[in-house]
Amino acid sequence: MSTEVMCEKQADKFKLKDQVALVTGSGRGIGRSIAESLMAAGAKVVISDINEETCKKTASELKEMGGETLSVVCDVTNSESIEKMVEKIMSEWGRIDVLVNNAGITRDNLYMRMSEQDWQAVIDTNLSSAFKVTKPVIKVMSKQRSGRIINIASTTGVHGNFGQVNYAAAKAGLIGFTKTVALEYASRNITSNAVAPGFIDTDMTRALGEENVNKILERIPLKRMGCPEDIANAVLFFAGPGSYVTGQVLEVNGGLYT
Ligand SMILES: NC(=O)c1ccc[n+]([C@@H]2O[C@H](COP(=O)([O-])OP(=O)(O)OC[C@H]3O[C@@H](n4cnc5c(N)ncnc54)[C@H](O)[C@@H]3O)[C@@H](O)[C@H]2O)c1
Repeated sequence: MSTEVMCEKQADKFKLKDQVALVTGSGRGIGRSIAESLMAAGAKVVISDINEETCKKTASELKEMGGETLSVVCDVTNSESIEKMVEKIMSEWGRIDVLVNNAGITRDNLYMRMSEQDWQAVIDTNLSSAFKVTKPVIKVMSKQRSGRIINIASTTGVHGNFGQVNYAAAKAGLIGFTKTVALEYASRNITSNAVAPGFIDTDMTRALGEENVNKILERIPLKRMGCPEDIANAVLFFAGPGSYVTGQVLEVNGGLYT
Protein backbone atom coordinates (compact mmCIF):
# COMPACT_ATOMS: atom_id res chain seq x y z
CA MET A 1 0.00 0.00 0.00
CA SER A 2 1.42 3.41 -0.91
CA THR A 3 2.01 6.10 1.72
CA GLU A 4 -0.41 8.30 -0.22
CA VAL A 5 -3.23 5.80 0.26
CA MET A 6 -2.33 5.22 3.92
CA CYS A 7 -2.30 8.94 4.64
CA GLU A 8 -5.60 9.64 2.91
CA LYS A 9 -7.98 11.97 4.73
CA GLN A 10 -11.19 10.40 5.99
CA ALA A 11 -12.88 13.79 6.32
CA ASP A 12 -15.69 13.38 3.80
CA LYS A 13 -17.00 10.41 5.77
CA PHE A 14 -17.77 12.67 8.74
CA LYS A 15 -20.17 15.54 8.43
CA LEU A 16 -19.56 18.49 10.74
CA LYS A 17 -21.50 21.05 8.73
CA ASP A 18 -22.01 24.43 10.48
CA GLN A 19 -20.04 23.31 13.53
CA VAL A 20 -17.27 25.49 14.93
CA ALA A 21 -13.94 23.82 15.73
CA LEU A 22 -11.07 25.40 17.64
CA VAL A 23 -7.63 23.81 17.23
CA THR A 24 -4.80 25.25 19.33
CA GLY A 25 -1.29 25.27 17.86
CA SER A 26 -2.75 24.83 14.37
CA GLY A 27 -0.30 27.08 12.51
CA ARG A 28 1.66 24.00 11.45
CA GLY A 29 2.19 20.26 11.93
CA ILE A 30 -0.44 17.99 13.43
CA GLY A 31 -2.68 20.90 14.44
CA ARG A 32 -2.82 22.21 10.89
CA SER A 33 -3.67 18.76 9.54
CA ILE A 34 -6.45 18.37 12.15
CA ALA A 35 -7.84 21.78 11.17
CA GLU A 36 -7.76 20.85 7.47
CA SER A 37 -9.61 17.60 8.11
CA LEU A 38 -12.26 19.19 10.32
CA MET A 39 -12.74 21.83 7.64
CA ALA A 40 -13.03 19.19 4.92
CA ALA A 41 -15.73 17.52 7.05
CA GLY A 42 -17.71 20.77 6.95
CA ALA A 43 -16.66 22.60 10.13
CA LYS A 44 -15.70 26.26 10.36
CA VAL A 45 -12.23 26.23 11.89
CA VAL A 46 -10.41 28.58 14.22
CA ILE A 47 -6.70 28.54 13.44
CA SER A 48 -4.98 29.51 16.66
CA ASP A 49 -1.26 29.67 17.36
CA ILE A 50 1.33 31.66 19.31
CA ASN A 51 3.19 32.18 16.02
CA GLU A 52 1.39 35.01 14.22
CA GLU A 53 2.98 34.32 10.84
CA THR A 54 2.06 30.62 10.56
CA CYS A 55 -1.32 31.29 12.17
CA LYS A 56 -2.33 33.81 9.49
CA LYS A 57 -0.71 31.85 6.65
CA THR A 58 -2.50 28.60 7.53
CA ALA A 59 -5.84 30.36 7.97
CA SER A 60 -5.57 32.04 4.57
CA GLU A 61 -4.37 28.85 2.83
CA LEU A 62 -7.30 26.89 4.25
CA LYS A 63 -9.67 29.65 3.16
CA GLU A 64 -8.26 29.35 -0.36
CA MET A 65 -9.16 25.65 -0.23
CA GLY A 66 -12.78 26.75 0.18
CA GLY A 67 -13.30 26.61 3.94
CA GLU A 68 -14.40 29.15 6.54
CA THR A 69 -11.54 30.06 8.86
CA LEU A 70 -10.81 32.51 11.62
CA SER A 71 -7.23 33.28 12.58
CA VAL A 72 -6.61 34.11 16.25
CA VAL A 73 -3.11 34.53 17.68
CA CYS A 74 -3.17 33.01 21.17
CA ASP A 75 -0.63 31.85 23.74
CA VAL A 76 -2.21 28.86 25.48
CA THR A 77 -0.19 29.49 28.63
CA ASN A 78 -1.79 32.91 29.09
CA SER A 79 -5.35 33.09 30.49
CA GLU A 80 -5.92 36.65 29.25
CA SER A 81 -4.93 35.70 25.70
CA ILE A 82 -7.28 32.68 25.90
CA GLU A 83 -10.22 34.78 27.17
CA LYS A 84 -9.74 37.20 24.26
CA MET A 85 -9.67 34.30 21.78
CA VAL A 86 -12.91 32.81 23.11
CA GLU A 87 -14.58 36.24 23.08
CA LYS A 88 -13.54 36.72 19.45
CA ILE A 89 -14.86 33.29 18.39
CA MET A 90 -18.15 33.92 20.17
CA SER A 91 -18.59 37.36 18.61
CA GLU A 92 -17.80 36.03 15.12
CA TRP A 93 -19.47 32.63 15.15
CA GLY A 94 -21.46 32.39 18.41
CA ARG A 95 -20.63 28.80 19.31
CA ILE A 96 -17.84 26.25 19.81
CA ASP A 97 -18.60 22.60 19.07
CA VAL A 98 -15.16 21.00 18.95
CA LEU A 99 -12.06 21.90 20.95
CA VAL A 100 -8.73 20.26 20.11
CA ASN A 101 -6.05 21.00 22.70
CA ASN A 102 -3.08 20.40 20.42
CA ALA A 103 -0.45 23.10 21.14
CA GLY A 104 2.67 21.55 22.64
CA ILE A 105 6.44 21.76 22.96
CA THR A 106 9.35 19.52 23.91
CA ARG A 107 12.43 20.40 25.99
CA ASP A 108 14.12 16.99 26.18
CA ASN A 109 16.94 16.04 28.54
CA LEU A 110 17.78 13.24 30.94
CA TYR A 111 16.14 13.79 34.32
CA MET A 112 19.35 14.67 36.20
CA ARG A 113 20.30 17.24 33.56
CA MET A 114 16.87 18.78 33.16
CA SER A 115 16.51 22.33 34.40
CA GLU A 116 13.52 23.42 36.45
CA GLN A 117 12.84 25.94 33.69
CA ASP A 118 12.50 23.21 31.04
CA TRP A 119 10.32 21.15 33.37
CA GLN A 120 8.00 24.11 33.97
CA ALA A 121 7.83 25.26 30.33
CA VAL A 122 6.64 21.83 29.21
CA ILE A 123 4.12 21.48 32.07
CA ASP A 124 2.77 24.97 31.33
CA THR A 125 2.45 24.51 27.55
CA ASN A 126 1.33 20.87 27.40
CA LEU A 127 -0.78 20.46 30.55
CA SER A 128 -1.81 23.68 32.31
CA SER A 129 -2.80 25.04 28.88
CA ALA A 130 -5.57 22.43 28.60
CA PHE A 131 -6.87 23.45 32.05
CA LYS A 132 -6.86 27.11 30.99
CA VAL A 133 -8.27 26.77 27.45
CA THR A 134 -10.95 24.20 28.27
CA LYS A 135 -12.47 26.27 31.10
CA PRO A 136 -14.06 29.11 29.05
CA VAL A 137 -14.81 26.76 26.15
CA ILE A 138 -16.61 24.19 28.30
CA LYS A 139 -18.82 26.97 29.69
CA VAL A 140 -19.96 27.65 26.10
CA MET A 141 -20.43 23.92 25.41
CA SER A 142 -22.38 23.48 28.66
CA LYS A 143 -24.87 26.15 27.57
CA GLN A 144 -25.15 24.45 24.17
CA ARG A 145 -25.61 21.08 25.88
CA SER A 146 -23.14 19.57 23.41
CA GLY A 147 -19.44 19.53 22.72
CA ARG A 148 -16.44 17.40 21.88
CA ILE A 149 -13.08 17.92 23.57
CA ILE A 150 -10.08 16.12 22.12
CA ASN A 151 -6.71 16.41 23.80
CA ILE A 152 -3.52 15.54 21.94
CA ALA A 153 -1.48 13.52 24.42
CA SER A 154 1.39 11.17 23.48
CA THR A 155 2.42 7.54 23.80
CA THR A 156 5.16 8.99 26.03
CA GLY A 157 2.44 9.96 28.52
CA VAL A 158 1.21 6.35 28.60
CA HIS A 159 4.52 4.44 28.63
CA GLY A 160 7.24 6.99 29.51
CA ASN A 161 10.30 7.75 27.39
CA PHE A 162 14.00 8.35 28.00
CA GLY A 163 14.87 12.05 28.13
CA GLN A 164 11.26 13.19 28.38
CA VAL A 165 10.39 13.21 32.08
CA ASN A 166 8.75 16.64 31.73
CA TYR A 167 6.84 15.73 28.57
CA ALA A 168 5.77 12.32 29.94
CA ALA A 169 4.49 13.90 33.16
CA ALA A 170 2.60 16.60 31.24
CA LYS A 171 1.00 14.16 28.79
CA ALA A 172 0.11 11.66 31.55
CA GLY A 173 -1.48 14.56 33.41
CA LEU A 174 -3.40 15.48 30.27
CA ILE A 175 -4.80 11.94 30.15
CA GLY A 176 -5.99 12.25 33.78
CA PHE A 177 -7.54 15.62 32.92
CA THR A 178 -9.30 14.06 29.89
CA LYS A 179 -10.84 11.24 31.91
CA THR A 180 -12.02 13.50 34.73
CA VAL A 181 -13.61 16.07 32.39
CA ALA A 182 -15.35 13.13 30.69
CA LEU A 183 -16.95 12.16 34.01
CA GLU A 184 -17.88 15.68 35.11
CA TYR A 185 -19.41 16.79 31.78
CA ALA A 186 -21.10 13.66 30.41
CA SER A 187 -24.42 14.89 31.84
CA ARG A 188 -24.13 17.95 29.59
CA ASN A 189 -23.57 15.82 26.49
CA ILE A 190 -19.90 16.81 26.27
CA THR A 191 -17.38 14.09 25.48
CA SER A 192 -13.70 14.27 26.39
CA ASN A 193 -11.14 11.98 24.78
CA ALA A 194 -7.44 11.89 24.05
CA VAL A 195 -5.43 10.88 21.01
CA ALA A 196 -1.93 9.69 21.91
CA PRO A 197 0.33 9.92 18.85
CA GLY A 198 3.45 7.81 18.53
CA PHE A 199 6.19 9.07 16.25
CA ILE A 200 4.76 11.53 13.72
CA ASP A 201 6.64 13.25 10.90
CA THR A 202 6.54 16.98 11.81
CA ASP A 203 9.03 19.77 12.59
CA MET A 204 8.96 18.57 16.22
CA THR A 205 10.41 15.15 15.34
CA ARG A 206 12.57 16.37 12.44
CA ALA A 207 14.52 18.32 15.08
CA LEU A 208 15.73 14.95 16.49
CA GLY A 209 18.09 14.43 13.53
CA GLU A 210 18.38 11.57 11.02
CA GLU A 211 20.33 9.13 13.22
CA ASN A 212 17.82 9.26 16.09
CA VAL A 213 14.89 9.09 13.67
CA ASN A 214 16.33 5.90 12.09
CA LYS A 215 16.80 4.29 15.52
CA ILE A 216 13.16 4.95 16.41
CA LEU A 217 11.96 3.72 13.02
CA GLU A 218 13.55 0.32 13.69
CA ARG A 219 11.31 -0.04 16.77
CA ILE A 220 8.02 0.75 15.03
CA PRO A 221 6.21 -2.48 14.04
CA LEU A 222 4.49 -0.80 11.06
CA LYS A 223 7.95 0.38 9.91
CA ARG A 224 7.01 3.94 9.09
CA MET A 225 6.57 7.22 10.90
CA GLY A 226 3.01 8.34 11.26
CA CYS A 227 1.81 11.30 9.24
CA PRO A 228 -0.23 14.19 10.64
CA GLU A 229 -3.26 12.84 8.73
CA ASP A 230 -3.12 9.65 10.85
CA ILE A 231 -3.74 11.80 13.92
CA ALA A 232 -6.34 13.96 12.15
CA ASN A 233 -8.31 10.82 11.22
CA ALA A 234 -8.46 9.73 14.87
CA VAL A 235 -9.54 13.22 15.95
CA LEU A 236 -12.29 13.15 13.33
CA PHE A 237 -13.70 9.99 14.87
CA PHE A 238 -14.02 11.65 18.29
CA ALA A 239 -15.38 14.87 16.73
CA GLY A 240 -17.88 13.07 14.50
CA PRO A 241 -19.31 9.58 14.83
CA GLY A 242 -17.81 8.76 18.23
CA SER A 243 -20.73 10.26 20.16
CA TYR A 244 -20.94 7.37 22.67
CA VAL A 245 -17.21 7.31 23.39
CA THR A 246 -15.83 9.37 26.26
CA GLY A 247 -12.85 9.16 28.62
CA GLN A 248 -10.82 7.17 26.08
CA VAL A 249 -7.19 7.37 25.04
CA LEU A 250 -6.57 6.21 21.47
CA GLU A 251 -2.93 5.45 20.74
CA VAL A 252 -2.04 6.09 17.10
CA ASN A 253 1.49 4.77 17.05
CA GLY A 254 2.09 2.10 14.38
CA GLY A 255 2.26 -0.53 17.13
CA LEU A 256 5.05 1.16 19.16
CA TYR A 257 3.97 0.42 22.73
CA THR A 258 7.27 0.71 24.59
N1 LIG B 1 5.19 14.92 16.30
C1 LIG B 1 5.08 13.87 17.10
O1 LIG B 1 5.72 12.84 16.90
C2 LIG B 1 4.15 13.92 18.29
C3 LIG B 1 4.03 12.75 19.06
C4 LIG B 1 3.19 12.75 20.16
C5 LIG B 1 2.48 13.89 20.48
N2 LIG B 1 2.63 15.01 19.73
C6 LIG B 1 1.85 16.19 20.15
O2 LIG B 1 1.10 16.70 19.05
C7 LIG B 1 0.95 18.11 19.20
C8 LIG B 1 1.42 18.80 17.93
O3 LIG B 1 2.78 18.48 17.70
P1 LIG B 1 3.54 18.74 16.32
O4 LIG B 1 4.41 17.60 16.07
O5 LIG B 1 2.59 19.21 15.28
O6 LIG B 1 4.49 19.97 16.79
P2 LIG B 1 4.92 21.31 16.06
O7 LIG B 1 6.04 21.85 16.86
O8 LIG B 1 5.12 21.07 14.60
O9 LIG B 1 3.62 22.24 16.23
C9 LIG B 1 3.21 22.73 17.49
C10 LIG B 1 2.47 24.04 17.29
O10 LIG B 1 2.10 24.53 18.61
C11 LIG B 1 2.40 25.93 18.65
N3 LIG B 1 2.64 26.35 20.03
C12 LIG B 1 3.72 26.12 20.82
N4 LIG B 1 3.60 26.74 22.00
C13 LIG B 1 2.39 27.39 21.96
C14 LIG B 1 1.72 28.23 22.88
N5 LIG B 1 2.23 28.55 24.08
N6 LIG B 1 0.50 28.73 22.52
C15 LIG B 1 -0.03 28.44 21.30
N7 LIG B 1 0.59 27.67 20.39
C16 LIG B 1 1.79 27.15 20.72
C17 LIG B 1 3.63 26.10 17.78
O11 LIG B 1 3.79 27.44 17.35
C18 LIG B 1 3.34 25.13 16.63
O12 LIG B 1 2.62 25.75 15.59
C19 LIG B 1 1.76 18.49 20.45
O13 LIG B 1 0.91 18.55 21.57
C20 LIG B 1 2.72 17.34 20.59
O14 LIG B 1 3.16 17.19 21.93
C21 LIG B 1 3.46 15.06 18.65
